[in-house]
Amino acid sequence: MFNLCLLAFIFALTSAQNVDPRCKVTKFSQVASAVGNCTDIVLNNLVVPAGETLELYLKRGATVTFEGITLFEHTPWSGPLIRVKGQAITVQGAPGSLLNGQGELYWDHIGDFGPKKPQFMKIEASEDSVFRNLNVLNCPHHCIYIGISDRVTLTGWIIDNSYGDHNNFTGHNTDGFDVSGATNLIIENSQVINQDDCVAIRHGANILVRNMYCSGGHGISISVGFSYFNYTENTLYNVTVQDSVIVRSANGIHLKTHSDAYKGEMKNITYKNIYLSGLQNYAINVQQDYVNGSATGIPSNNIPIHDFNLMNIVGTFDEEADGTLPVYINCGKGSCDGWNWSGVELTGATNSSFCNNYEPKGYPCLSPSE
Ligand SMILES: *[C@@H]1O[C@H](CO)[C@@H](O)[C@H](O)[C@H]1NC(C)=O
Ligand SMILES: *[C@@H]1O[C@H](CO)[C@@H](O)[C@H](O)[C@H]1NC(C)=O
Ligand SMILES: *[C@@H]1O[C@H](CO)[C@@H](O)[C@H](O)[C@H]1NC(C)=O
Ligand SMILES: *[C@@H]1O[C@H](CO)[C@@H](O)[C@H](O)[C@H]1NC(C)=O
Ligand SMILES: *[C@@H]1O[C@H](CO)[C@@H](O)[C@H](O)[C@H]1NC(C)=O
Ligand SMILES: *[C@@H]1O[C@H](CO)[C@@H](O)[C@H](O)[C@H]1NC(C)=O
Ligand SMILES: *[C@@H]1O[C@H](CO)[C@@H](O)[C@H](O)[C@H]1NC(C)=O
Ligand SMILES: *[C@@H]1O[C@H](CO)[C@@H](O)[C@H](O)[C@H]1NC(C)=O
Repeated sequence: MFNLCLLAFIFALTSAQNVDPRCKVTKFSQVASAVGNCTDIVLNNLVVPAGETLELYLKRGATVTFEGITLFEHTPWSGPLIRVKGQAITVQGAPGSLLNGQGELYWDHIGDFGPKKPQFMKIEASEDSVFRNLNVLNCPHHCIYIGISDRVTLTGWIIDNSYGDHNNFTGHNTDGFDVSGATNLIIENSQVINQDDCVAIRHGANILVRNMYCSGGHGISISVGFSYFNYTENTLYNVTVQDSVIVRSANGIHLKTHSDAYKGEMKNITYKNIYLSGLQNYAINVQQDYVNGSATGIPSNNIPIHDFNLMNIVGTFDEEADGTLPVYINCGKGSCDGWNWSGVELTGATNSSFCNNYEPKGYPCLSPSE
């Protein structure tokens, strides 16, 4: 009796671990039929040929597990290296697995402006899809793009582009997570070491970012106004960023709107319990003057920012850096309102804060005209 139970137990254990051999992929040529036929797919030590996208348009409810090292061969192109679409899907890394984008073969200091570099991964998912425990090394360009999606959680990621800091920061535009068009999204419990935004949110609603560790980049950013004609695409509602650490970064909390874009709106944005250190420019900067990716100094009010709330933001600056500012606000006329800041403690900047056209409640900051 005891032995039978034990046997049954061992059988259950081994069969749970064994996937249908047709669903265990070791060669790129096997991917399409596994994706088309299987709901439990294992990608084992896969080599993705240069110039090919690993297309994972999954069956509803499917799981993909990356095992071992997934290597993306090098060639100059736009990518993406991986594209995932599906409903109620799970995409995960097995313990010890690694996705190697070989960014070091692309990086040339100039990112967008040099030869083409592939985006690493594009996601469009819904219905409580989960992306977990993925370990990404050296994305050539932007790492993870979350497009039109609903009810998606990304958890337990490591994005390590620290090698891009060697040789005078050869990595560039290596955003960690870019969000454009997602609702009910959670990004949590992850580390990003890179050379651009740790997280950058463009458009969407009900987004929660928490327990992040960001090092070397440009902070946790919001950038709204990429459409020249569509109001909806220039809106962002109800975002919370909390319980996170941002170190060795250009900025900490950076909100920008694009003055050459169509109208839009940002509302109910909260950052709380954020620890910042080693900042090289601004701890908190809000700029309503972006055109083509750069600040012009001339703000506009096409995309107002309502209810931008901060709670318990503590930060210090890189002592070697010049021209560091605790807070820099450049709002368009009448386009910032209802901001409530408390517990904002930023020490060690070389310059004082600057606020044009708006001063948040709870953070005294002289306007340039005063
Ligand atoms: C399922 O697998 C078979 C055999 O490998 C293949 O011919 C077929 O195209 C696959 N189906 C889909 C939908 O990919
Ligand atoms: C870094 O850049 C400086 C100035 O451009 C140069 O002198 C130095 O050799 C560079 N270091 C490396 C490791 O490339
Ligand atoms: C706002 O977003 C949070 C997630 O951060 C979510 O829990 C909450 O329900 C959202 N509020 C509304 C009114 O949708
Ligand atoms: C505006 O963008 C939204 C969201 O992407 C889309 O659903 C809608 O069709 C767009 N409207 C126009 C006029 O293009
Ligand atoms: C505003 O943000 C708060 C804090 O994240 C959230 O609890 C609330 O649901 C949001 N309200 C709306 C209307 O989105
Ligand atoms: C923005 O970039 C576009 C395309 O590169 C260019 O046509 C346009 O003149 C630029 N606008 C400004 C204000 O620099
Ligand atoms: C910091 O202050 C110095 C001296 O007043 C000034 O020259 C410099 O432009 C300021 N830097 C910034 C980023 O505001
Ligand atoms: C501002 O935030 C503080 C801390 O959360 C809160 O006690 C206060 O009521 C808020 N004030 C307004 C006007 O919302």
